[in-house]
This record gives sequence, structure tokens and C-alpha cells, in this order.
Amino acid sequence: MNHRICIRSAVVDDVETIYQLLKPFAKKDIILQRNRDNIFQHLQEFLVAEYDGKLAGVVCAHIYGKNLAEIRSLVVDPDSQKHGIGRLLVEGCEQWLVGMGVTKVFALTYVTDFFARLGYCIVSKESLPHKIWTVCVHCSRFADCDEIAVEKQLSGELSDLSV
Ligand SMILES: CC(C)(COP(=O)(O)OP(=O)(O)OC[C@H]1O[C@@H](n2cnc3c(N)ncnc32)[C@H](O)[C@@H]1OP(=O)(O)O)[C@@H](O)C(=O)NCCC(=O)NCCS
Repeated sequence: MNHRICIRSAVVDDVETIYQLLKPFAKKDIILQRNRDNIFQHLQEFLVAEYDGKLAGVVCAHIYGKNLAEIRSLVVDPDSQKHGIGRLLVEGCEQWLVGMGVTKVFALTYVTDFFARLGYCIVSKESLPHKIWTVCVHCSRFADCDEIAVEKQLSGELSDLSV
């Protein structure tokens, strides 16, 4: 069976599902905790993936400046993983960021091999500017963070996100 994946901007009606998608991974400290208000306040930064019409993935891109943005809150529903949704969400963020004129994107992650397949390189966390730690200071593991920083230089190439 051919599955259809659609990547689109999040809308207010998606907030509850986004919250439910993120919650189990936030509980395991894989991503940062977000409550519903926080998702509403950052909704313009979110993309979602519909998999055969059902919301199955989410990602958020936060811009710090012309030379830097962060991919955050990347989650694909466990039942829908390994179907290319995560890749399309990250590529969707990159496309949005290129359109915004941003030249570099990074992520703090445990899935470095996933990001490597998408062209990201491991960099030292110390190379990232101090302003990115404004979110991290609210994390329970700030003092003992074992996430790995990956980054990618963005080119002007835009791709078709529908499959
Ligand atoms: C990481 C995650 C988003 C990947 O989503 P996904 O939809 O399963 O990924 P895709 O199917 O698009 O995979 C793209 C490629 O990465 C590979 N890949 C996927 N997950 C991987 C992993 N954990 N480790 C190594 N490679 C991985 C796939 O095999 C695929 O390779 P290919 O292009 O050679 O076929 C998903 O596993 C997830 O939600 N994990 C839990 C939350 C998390 O860790 N989020 C990241 C926070 S920064």
C-alpha cells in the first residue's frame, strides 16, 4: 500500500495532538517538556506530518539569528517511525529556514546517526553561542547534559516535500 505523507504548518487545532505526541518523549527526557500554552505561543515555529491523514510527527524550528536556528521537539509517533517522516519534517524545517534567509541549523540530540543521514556533522557544544542555553537552563539535566550537538550549513536548494 502506498502511504501518503504531508508536511504542513501547524494550526491551533493541532495543539492537543502535538502535546500528546511530545509528552512521552519529554517524560523520558529525550526532548524538552512543553505544556499546551508553550505550544500555542510557539505555534508558528511548528511543522506537523500527516501520515495517511493522521497527525504522526512534529518538529519545531527556532531562529536565533541570521546565522543560526535550532531544530527542536522532533518526534515521530513510534507506530509510524522508519517511513521517512522524520526526514521530511527536518527537510521541511530546512526549507522554511532557507526561505527565511537562515544559513545554519543545529540540533542537540541522541540520534546522531539519523541526523548524519540528513547531512549533519557533529560539533562541540561549546562552539554554539551562549544565547542558545536560555532554554537549556530550564532542563533538569542542564548541569549534566549528554546530548550531542549536530549542525548543517543550509544551501538555497528547496525540495518537494510530498511523497
Ligand atoms: C528520530 C526520529 C524522529 C526519526 O524519525 P523516523 O520517521 O523514524 O525517521 P526516517 O524514517 O525519516 O529516517 C530517515 C533515515 O534515518 C534513519 N534513522 C531513523 N532513525 C534512526 C535512528 N534512531 N538511528 C539511526 N538512523 C535512524 C532511517 O533508517 C533513514 O535512513 P535512510 O534514509 O538511509 O533510509 C524518531 O525515531 C523519533 O521520534 N525518535 C524519538 C524522539 C527523538 O529522539 N527525537 C529527536 C530529538 S532531536
